[in-house]
Amino acid sequence: MSEVNKLKHVAIIMDGNGRWANGRSHARIWGHVRGSSVVSNIVEEADDLGVKALTLYAFSTENWSRPLAEVTTLFKLLKKFLLKERKRIIKNQIRFKVMGDTSRLPQDTKDLINGLESETSNFKGLKLTFAFGYGGRQEIVDAVNAFTEKNPGEKLTEDVLTKSLYNPELGDVDLLIRTGGDQRISNFLLWQMAYAELYFTETKWPDFTRKEFRQILNKVNTRERRFGQICESISLLETSSMAEKNKKILESAMGK
Ligand code: FPP
Repeated sequence: MSEVNKLKHVAIIMDGNGRWANGRSHARIWGHVRGSSVVSNIVEEADDLGVKALTLYAFSTENWSRPLAEVTTLFKLLKKFLLKERKRIIKNQIRFKVMGDTSRLPQDTKDLINGLESETSNFKGLKLTFAFGYGGRQEIVDAVNAFTEKNPGEKLTEDVLTKSLYNPELGDVDLLIRTGGDQRISNFLLWQMAYAELYFTETKWPDFTRKEFRQILNKVNTRERRFGQICESISLLETSSMAEKNKKILESAMGK
């Protein structure tokens, strides 16, 4: 990477698996199988580039309405990932978590998740989170309910709501990448994405490479992020002469 990576929390909507498979006259689930093998490459690249948190949308609350065979395939791929990547996750000190409603997953997969979460809970490396059975609106509703149950009658603020989210330590999203060509955020990390940079690529997830991921981060790192303010150099230039000019402009606009 040519310069320091400033994007601490990167979130990805791994879209386009079904279309990738259909375009090759395969069943949609083949796209998920191929897509799941891309996940570990991107995790490794994110770690190499100094990303602190990587959150991947693996299964949304809306995905429950997909055909049973597809839902079951996604469950199986999650289990396979946990079995296959466990050693590498531990070796690289990655802190692993799943966020969302996992209650309908098979018990053996839930056990694998719980095991890996507790084994890695004190690791200081990349925070890898799979959003599974996850919906951004549901997360906000859960955060509000958690807060009001604990603090009846108290007023909610942005700060306390942020602290009541599923994984507040992940912080705001700096960059959302969506593969597959659609330009939507699809109920993903709605609260955390308020000031995220958005990047949409036509590449379907099974074709997404470490190289493209690195190029996207390089490009977005050069964007100026103002968070609703003006750029730093201008605010520093706001000298008394500029303030005087502004006063005159305002007076003439107000007809004084
Ligand atoms: C969207 O593609 C993708 C998903 C619904 C699931 C993403 C899952 C994976 C990448 C594999 C699972 C991997 C692990 C490790 C859990 P789509 O089916 O909506 O594609 P389409 O828009 O072309 O139909």
